[in-house]
Amino acid sequence: MSLASFLAELDALAAEAVKAFAAAMDAAALEAARVEYLGAKSGKLKDAQKGLGTVGKDDKPAAGKKFNEVKQAVEAAFAAAQERAGSGDAAVSSGPPFDPSQPGARPRLGHLHPLTQTIDELKDIMGRLGFSVAQGPEIEDERHNFEALNIPQAHPARDPLENFYLATAEKLGAGPMLLRSQTSTVQIRVMEAQRPPVRIISLGRVYRPDTADATHYPMFHQIEGLLVDKHVTMADLKSTLRLFAKSYFGGEVHIRFRPSFFPFTEPSVEVDMQWHDRWIEMGGAGMVDPNVLRAVGYDPDEVSGFAFGLGVERVCARRHHVTDIREFYRNDVRFLEQF
Ligand code: DAH
Repeated sequence: MSLASFLAELDALAAEAVKAFAAAMDAAALEAARVEYLGAKSGKLKDAQKGLGTVGKDDKPAAGKKFNEVKQAVEAAFAAAQERAGSGDAAVSSGPPFDPSQPGARPRLGHLHPLTQTIDELKDIMGRLGFSVAQGPEIEDERHNFEALNIPQAHPARDPLENFYLATAEKLGAGPMLLRSQTSTVQIRVMEAQRPPVRIISLGRVYRPDTADATHYPMFHQIEGLLVDKHVTMADLKSTLRLFAKSYFGGEVHIRFRPSFFPFTEPSVEVDMQWHDRWIEMGGAGMVDPNVLRAVGYDPDEVSGFAFGLGVERVCARRHHVTDIREFYRNDVRFLEQF
């Protein structure tokens, strides 16, 4: 072969290879082009190299130099094409080229936990009845958890085995402190801080050393209600709870009071409501005991009040037919997704 035709062949090959690399749309096509032109065994460049042996002896240096130049140029074109296709990793750069005008992939959104939804809804319902939201600490002293609530030292509810007392508080000499066992503590905190009339609810966590089962959990939520004013009666309590139940459960609701006992109310009742021809227990309630009013400096001859305390897990479970309250704490999205 003459030197001129060898050089022409190389030029044509280089142009063809550069064009092929540029046209490769993805990593697989680019790899195919690489094998076609730069393949070590039967690439077109390898073939062209064989032509070197056919040029005249005197032309060999020029032909070899040209071959090396072309080879480098083709390799550089391949490297550039590879760069353009991304990292050169087939898994990353295969597939159609990125189109910035395409809509994005929608991320999977979560939502509020069913108990949070319930708490928000209860606040909403009671807010419409004129109750504002009050808060109290989860770590409490004995005055707010027991004494001001008329729960005497010897009462079984104060047994250390029935409560989460905090060992550190004792060590610090701060007096006994415990994780509150009921949101009734907030009744005391609110009444200490303001004069009547009072019309509040409080929603939050309470703690008891109970073994977890379908209806118990060592931490759960209560909604506490307190209304203190002149001439408050049991009828006000009953109609408030009926309106509450009607709003939360829907439909025509009957409320039933069963005589009961709580140290902080007199008289005390357990509240049942009829739902789908079943009576279900909602919680405790009653007229605020005069001793409680006195403990916060209110005059029981001037004002009276009612209070109630309901389990949030319980009302939520009833409405949604959840049979095991532990489901609320398992964080299984298959359960949570249903709310
Ligand atoms: N604190 C009571 C409990 O945890 C529930 C309760 C009963 C709250 C009667 C009240 C009430 O405000 O009046 O079992």
